[in-house]
Amino acid sequence: MSELRDLIDQASRLVAFTGAGISAESGIPTYRGQEGLWQKYDPAKYADITYFRKNPAYYWNFFREVRYPMLKQAQPNQAHLALARLEQMGKLRAIITQNIDGLHQQAGSRKVVELHGNSRRFFCLRCGEREAMEQVYVRLSEEIQPACISCGGQLRPEVVFFGEALSASVMVEAETLTRESDLFVVVGSSLVVQPAAQFPVQAKQNGSRLVIVNKDPTPLDALADMVYHRQASEVFGTAV
Ligand code: APR
Repeated sequence: MSELRDLIDQASRLVAFTGAGISAESGIPTYRGQEGLWQKYDPAKYADITYFRKNPAYYWNFFREVRYPMLKQAQPNQAHLALARLEQMGKLRAIITQNIDGLHQQAGSRKVVELHGNSRRFFCLRCGEREAMEQVYVRLSEEIQPACISCGGQLRPEVVFFGEALSASVMVEAETLTRESDLFVVVGSSLVVQPAAQFPVQAKQNGSRLVIVNKDPTPLDALADMVYHRQASEVFGTAV
């Protein structure tokens, strides 16, 4: 891992790009691996905007029975903590994450660009009132579909569902960080979902060094300057 440590030491504008794999060791299943979340629950229902509009109860049951308990037990692991340390040391400019679990912020990271939103936050479709998941969860026992505390409107999670566009302002921020980076480190992503998977390519095209830390091979391995097919906490537990 000394090569990675050397690259980090030489970098002045390090950007990390993370996916579900960085949270796997925190007990949050990935999407596409053997233990993938999608082996058990149908994303065409709980993660799709059209289905949510037609049948929100499916999402709320999934949230009550799966998502909330998973988020409540999850703690940041060595890899999350290492990225937060690099930011505190002034080495890391930002994390661009596809994850919606909020574990980077729990680890102490401050500059986190959430491409797909954050499943710990909810907002009202009618008045825009925002609520934290804990407040919403306590109402789930009485109401199968919790209503907004201000206006009684329908709540939804602050995540990007399949069938929805990513926020334009978030994309611009991620593109700017990517373009200005001199070292771009991917941690725990299969790099198969667009438009997120374009960022490592953009970074490389803009002259950044590209490092991929991912347990399994990815379609961008050949583009990278360095590839570690290892556990994220193993690589980051020693490199920083
Ligand atoms: N350390 C490093 N990598 C790991 C670990 C680990 N401990 N555990 C799993 N991985 C790797 C797997 O090899 C896999 O390639 O993490 C990757 C996770 O890939 P996905 O499950 O596809 O997750 P991700 O790349 O974040 O998916 C992108 O797809 O479904 C949408 O919105 C969802 O944000 C998600 C997006």
